[in-house]
Amino acid sequence: VGLATDPFNVALGMGALQSIDGVSDTVRRLSDMQGLFADQEAVAAILAEGDPVIYEFSARQNPSSDKSLSFGLTRIRSGTIGGEYYMTRGHFHRGKGDEVYVTLNGQGVLLLQTRDGQRRETTMAAGTLSYVPTGWGHRAVNVGSDGLVFLSVWSGAVDHDYETIARRGFPRRVISAPDGPVVVT
Ligand SMILES: [Fe+2]
Repeated sequence: VGLATDPFNVALGMGALQSIDGVSDTVRRLSDMQGLFADQEAVAAILAEGDPVIYEFSARQNPSSDKSLSFGLTRIRSGTIGGEYYMTRGHFHRGKGDEVYVTLNGQGVLLLQTRDGQRRETTMAAGTLSYVPTGWGHRAVNVGSDGLVFLSVWSGAVDHDYETIARRGFPRRVISAPDGPVVVT
C-alpha cells in the first residue's frame, strides 16, 4: 500500500510499516556508533565478543524538497554499555522542520540540546507525546528492561545532521545506578 499520494492505514508494530511503499529498515549495531558511548574500554570489550544490535527503525524519509510528512517506528533494545543505557545516535535537523515522538512501549529519556548550549530532558513512556521544535538536537535513551518503541513523524523539509552529535555528543548522559537511571553531566 501507500504511494505518497495515496491514503493508507496500518496497525503500528515493529515490521508493520514494511508493507508501505518507500519504507526502509535500518539496524544500528554497536560498531555503527561505538564512539558515542563514554566508556570506550567497555565498547572494545563487548565488540571483542560480538556486535549487539542497539536499535532498529523502519522509516519513510521523503526527499527534503518534499512538503509531505516523513515517519518511522524505532525500537531501542534494552541494555547498557559500561553502565550507559542503549540509545539512538541522535541528530539535529538541518533546515526548518519540527518532529513529534509518540512512545508506544517502554521507558525512556529524551535528551535535547540546542546548538547554543541549552539542554533539556523529558520522559518517554507509553502514551506520551514529545514535541521537538526545530533547533533542538534529540536522542532517545532506553532506561527500561523492555524495548523502547516510539513512532516519530517529521517534516519532509528536514535533512538530518548526525555529524554535530558525533563530534560533540550530548551534554548529559543517562547511566544505570543502583536506584535506577540517573542523568549525569
Ligand atoms: Fe529528528
